[in-house]
Amino acid sequence: MTTSPASPTAAGSGTNATAAFRASVTRSGPAPADRQRVSTVVQALVDAVRGVIRDHEITYPEFRTAEQWLMDLGEAGEWPLFLDVFVEHEVEKIAERTQHGTKGTIQGPYYLPGQKRLPATATLPQRDDEKGDTLVLTGQVRALDGTPLGGAEVDIWQADADGYYSGFAPHIPDGNLRGVITTDEQGRFEITTVRPAPYRIPTDGPTGALLTAAGWHPWRPAHLHLMVCATGYRQITTQLYFQGGDWLDSDVASATKDELILAPVRLGDGLLRARYDFDLEPV
Ligand code: DHB
Ligand code: FE
Repeated sequence: MTTSPASPTAAGSGTNATAAFRASVTRSGPAPADRQRVSTVVQALVDAVRGVIRDHEITYPEFRTAEQWLMDLGEAGEWPLFLDVFVEHEVEKIAERTQHGTKGTIQGPYYLPGQKRLPATATLPQRDDEKGDTLVLTGQVRALDGTPLGGAEVDIWQADADGYYSGFAPHIPDGNLRGVITTDEQGRFEITTVRPAPYRIPTDGPTGALLTAAGWHPWRPAHLHLMVCATGYRQITTQLYFQGGDWLDSDVASATKDELILAPVRLGDGLLRARYDFDLEPV
């Protein structure tokens, strides 16, 4: 008989995502010089909403439903989940315009700082009975000109083989499948982990209710999250996907890029191996 783990709820992951966001961002009001920008951008936003109301002849019941849903979203702590799924990719595309080297993509709501520091060759913290195919990710961190970057940091986090993240699901120990790897003198790393499953937006919260109401699917393709940094270089926040995986062409968060797809191979030892090199631009 299998005992099902305490099922992670939208309320749990939403609230934790809100707490993680608040811990990571310092609140700074706009400087007086930014007033024009605030005015321009907020005016454009309000105009866009008013335009939707006119174009689609929004009714009072629809307006009240939207009000209620927005309140639910806040009360469930799901603003980070909702914004990272539906909006962050557009902001990232603006950042991409000035970024060279390895492509970035969205950070998502599940990054947690201060994870276990690990040497260049390491296995991510995992449970004794961690489910899933063993995956070995090797690679090198380099400057754009090819110089190997020893001592660079590869901060990696991922869902488990059921699609859940530690820190946001009560049945998973803190720090599971998270770690900060330091590259060797050649900029190389070799990370042993498990292949994550596709991620499903929690369906029991307001974001899930919206997806259901619109008839949209709640899936993201399986992915590893990485933040790669080295002193004097621009940090890359990105994700790596798996060739042939489900939902690659219909990611609910619109965050896939062709350049970020791994092609793991299974060698004689039965392990999945993939290679990915990171090219950082100087600041
Ligand atoms: C969300 C979850 C993710 O794992 C991710 O990479 C991006 C967004 C979310 O639930 O909002
Ligand atoms: Fe994710």
